[in-house]
Amino acid sequence: SQVSIFGVPTDVGAGRRGASMGPEGLRVAGLVEALIARGVDVDDLGDLKGPKNPWTGPREGYRHLDEVVAWNRAVLEASSAELARGRMPIMLGGDHCLAIGSIAAVANHCRATGRKLRVLWLDAHTDFNTSQITPSGNVHGMPVACLCGIGPDELTGLGGVSPSMQVAQFRQIGIRSVDPDEKRLVKEHGLDIYDMRYIDEVGMRRVVEEALDGLDDDTHLHVSFDVDVLDPTIAPGTGTPVPGGINYREAQLVMEMIADSGRLGSLDIVEVNTALDQGNTTAELAVDLVESLFGKSTLMRD
Ligand code: ARG
Ligand code: MN
Ligand code: MN
Ligand code: MN
Repeated sequence: SQVSIFGVPTDVGAGRRGASMGPEGLRVAGLVEALIARGVDVDDLGDLKGPKNPWTGPREGYRHLDEVVAWNRAVLEASSAELARGRMPIMLGGDHCLAIGSIAAVANHCRATGRKLRVLWLDAHTDFNTSQITPSGNVHGMPVACLCGIGPDELTGLGGVSPSMQVAQFRQIGIRSVDPDEKRLVKEHGLDIYDMRYIDEVGMRRVVEEALDGLDDDTHLHVSFDVDVLDPTIAPGTGTPVPGGINYREAQLVMEMIADSGRLGSLDIVEVNTALDQGNTTAELAVDLVESLFGKSTLMRD
C-alpha cells in the first residue's frame, strides 16, 4: 500500500498545551520505519504550517476559532491532495479538532468516487459538543458534531458540502466521558456508541465485529485514533486522560481486526501530548498499534 504521512503541529483545539509536539514524538518513536518494515510505501511530507496558539479564553463558545479553521483548511487541502494521488493519508496530530479537515476530505473523496464511508472513532470522548453546551470552549470536543452539520459555518461547511457526514456513518469505541448536555445531544442524534461498559460486557471482539458490520469492497474505512481511548496507565501522554480505558490487548485486537477487514483507507493519530508523557511511551505504544493496523501479527510471516 501507498501511504502519505503529514504532521499537524498544533494544539489550538485543546485545553492543555503539548499536542503540537505529537508529530515529532511519533516520528522519534519510529513510525515511518515501522511502516517501511511492514512493506508499506511511505512518503513523509513533513509538517503543515499554521497560526500559533493565541491561548485565549472562549469567544461566543469557541476558543481560537479562527486558528482552528486555518489549521483545518490546511489539513483538508493536504488530505485531499493525497487521496487524489491514490495514497492513504495518515494525519499526525495535533489535537482532535483536526479531524474535521481530514474527514471532510475523505467524505469529498468518497462522494467523488461513489464510495461508501465508515468512520471508526476510537476515543474516551464522543467529541459531540457545541458552542452552547461545551464546558470548555475547546474545539477538540466538537469535531463529530461539526462533521454532522452542528457547529459554526466555517467548520460545518469546510469541505464545501454541509454536512460532510451523517451521524449513521460513525461508530465510536472506548467512550467513557460525555458531558451532561452532550449526553442529551448524543442520544437525540442516535450516535452509535460502544462505551466501556459494553466492551466489558460483550468483549472487544464482538464490539469490533459490530462496528465493522456491513463494510463491503466499496467502503472506505477512516480510523480516527484519539490516544486517550487507551487506559492512562499505558498511555499517560495525552491532555484529557480518563481512567478505565482500553487495555493493551484490547487495543491490539481492534487494530488487528481493522487490518483483517482490508478496508482501511485513511487514519488520524491525535492527542499525543509529549509534554505530559513519561518518556515517549505513548507515541511508542501508538507506533506498536499502527504496526498491527498494517498487518503485523504473531504467527503470520512478515
Ligand atoms: N468533553 C470535553 C470538552 O468538550 C473534553 C473533550 C476532549 N476531546 C478530545 N479530543 N480529547 O471540553
Ligand atoms: Mn477526541
Ligand atoms: Mn478524547
Ligand atoms: Mn480511496
